[in-house]
Amino acid sequence: MSQDLQKIIAGRRAAEFVKNGMVVGIGSGSTIAHFIEALGERVANEQLNIVGVATSEKTRRNAAQLGIPMYNVDDIDKIDLTIDGADQISDDFSAIKGGGAALLWEKIVAFNSRENIWVVDASKRVDKLNQYLPVEVIPYGSDQLFKRFTASGFHPTWRLDQNGNPVRTDSANFLIDLHLPIIENPRELGDELIKMVGVVEHGLFTDVVNHVIVGTDDHSVNVIDVK
Ligand code: 5RP
Repeated sequence: MSQDLQKIIAGRRAAEFVKNGMVVGIGSGSTIAHFIEALGERVANEQLNIVGVATSEKTRRNAAQLGIPMYNVDDIDKIDLTIDGADQISDDFSAIKGGGAALLWEKIVAFNSRENIWVVDASKRVDKLNQYLPVEVIPYGSDQLFKRFTASGFHPTWRLDQNGNPVRTDSANFLIDLHLPIIENPRELGDELIKMVGVVEHGLFTDVVNHVIVGTDDHSVNVIDVK
């Protein structure tokens, strides 16, 4: 089955985890677009009474258009459940996120949530994290930071839009992608990155996820309980 179909079945299944009365953190990306669609259907057809908190402006717009009442993270007491995508998930259930440039808000929403579910297609499951790692940085001084990343052997590249301009996140920051062969110790690397002045946040998510929903090759969905 194609990756797109895996995303559809996993994303739609994720909507079944939402219960009446919940405050729901709503992730970003193409897999989560299917979750949002299915959640919108449930709100319309089952009179599901929920409130959403978005991890990006795009998600906020899409969810609101489908009739999901959207609140700011600072307007609610606590998020009950956040459902988000991921770029890679390793065997120890660490993840790289931020392929869609939303890692900062995604992390804020995740860490203010009682439970977190990640929804992915099978290609995202890896033994060890080995994909480019997005880092959100303050524009001021970012050329200097880029040089420090180079000196540290992180092989940085700027995230650019189709016109060659730096991508701006929803918080108006820049993104630098680090290209490391394998991330052996995500916690250690995350600690090192967050201490570098000018780094706002990095795309390593460790000790966050409670359940992972994986769309598989045979039209089924695997639900993995992590903690
Ligand atoms: C956005 C993210 C997304 O969750 C991640 O990029 C997965 O996206 P997709 O479902 O399109 O593969 O972290 O910042």
